[in-house]
Amino acid sequence: MSRLFTPLSLRDVRVRNRLWVAPMCQYSAVDGVPQEWHHTHLAQFASGGAGLVVAEATAVSPEGRISPEDTGLWNDEQRDAWAPIVAAIRRRGAVAAVQLAHAGRKASTWSPLSGRRGSVPLEDGGWTTVAPSAIAFDGYAAPRALDAAGIDRVVADFAAAARRAVEAGFEVLEIHAAHGYLLHQFLSPLSNLRDDDYGGSLAGRARLLLRVLDAVRDAAPDAPLLVRFSATDWAESGWDADQTATVARWAAERGADFFDISSGGLVAHQRIAPAPGYQVGLAAHVRREAGVPVSAVGLIDDAALAEKVLAEDAADAVMAGREWLRDPHYGLRAAAELGADIDYWPRQYVRARR
Ligand SMILES: Cc1cc2nc3c(=O)[nH]c(=O)nc-3n(C[C@H](O)[C@H](O)[C@H](O)COP(=O)(O)O)c2cc1C
Repeated sequence: MSRLFTPLSLRDVRVRNRLWVAPMCQYSAVDGVPQEWHHTHLAQFASGGAGLVVAEATAVSPEGRISPEDTGLWNDEQRDAWAPIVAAIRRRGAVAAVQLAHAGRKASTWSPLSGRRGSVPLEDGGWTTVAPSAIAFDGYAAPRALDAAGIDRVVADFAAAARRAVEAGFEVLEIHAAHGYLLHQFLSPLSNLRDDDYGGSLAGRARLLLRVLDAVRDAAPDAPLLVRFSATDWAESGWDADQTATVARWAAERGADFFDISSGGLVAHQRIAPAPGYQVGLAAHVRREAGVPVSAVGLIDDAALAEKVLAEDAADAVMAGREWLRDPHYGLRAAAELGADIDYWPRQYVRARR
């Protein structure tokens, strides 16, 4: 029997299988408002057999956007634009999740779709970024170090966005603590040089994430909560898999339900060697050391590999990004390849089933 096509429960939410869509920025929002593109983009994965569909990094505040074209959930107009998109995902039998994000020192950059790179200057609509310490990401504009009031504001913004996400119909929330964005910047000793309660020891560096978690938990008491970590900076003296496992355990004790294990993104001098399943070992490490459920992601581009990851108990679910872009029906195809008998082929497409 296929493990990949065995349902999984996140609190009271049943996910029909374990082949999920990873969050992917589309850089196509207008003032943080998702558009028709987002609707088609996300709904097609639900038609294509995904279990969980995680909508892209969605900023909790305007200054938390990676680019000016990021989606947001800092106002009600954005919430109301998400609602029909969420409904479309759910009508197609998948579970809708959203990744709540703040880009910190990696905010205010040109969208990759613009063909430009680096920080957007203030005169072109950019903004001054914030971070744990006033250390720039390589080649980007220097951020301002957050003070106590600024930190409280970030926590409140995550909570308000979580509330709006639930109002929009999202059943599952993911906190983005990976890829060198704000919460990861606090976690890593390479970007956090603070000497107050939010820096120094592991507990200090994890304090902001845990506060955000508590605030999101309070704002959305019943929603299953995922946390995405980069389990290593792939750089000397940086954040690593053991620290990730410890903080994942703390997060689980505070009400996080599931951990989405990625890697990298904090520093430009990272050394990564991408290969099929290259982050699976990190997911397995966190699962084993912290005793928490995890998903693995990163070049898991075929059904057999995804099934193997689960069969070897390296992870509880598999996320994929680019393979869903190449084939939005990756889920249906994977089920056919593994001989899994699923009852969610779209009726309209059944003639294509083999
Ligand atoms: C177009 C694109 C946009 C992405 N945007 C996000 C994002 O919003 N949040 C995030 O955590 N990761 C983002 N990622 C990373 C993916 O979620 C995923 O971890 C990565 O692509 C590796 O998985 P893959 O090999 O299956 O594509 C993005 C990747 C792509 C290709």
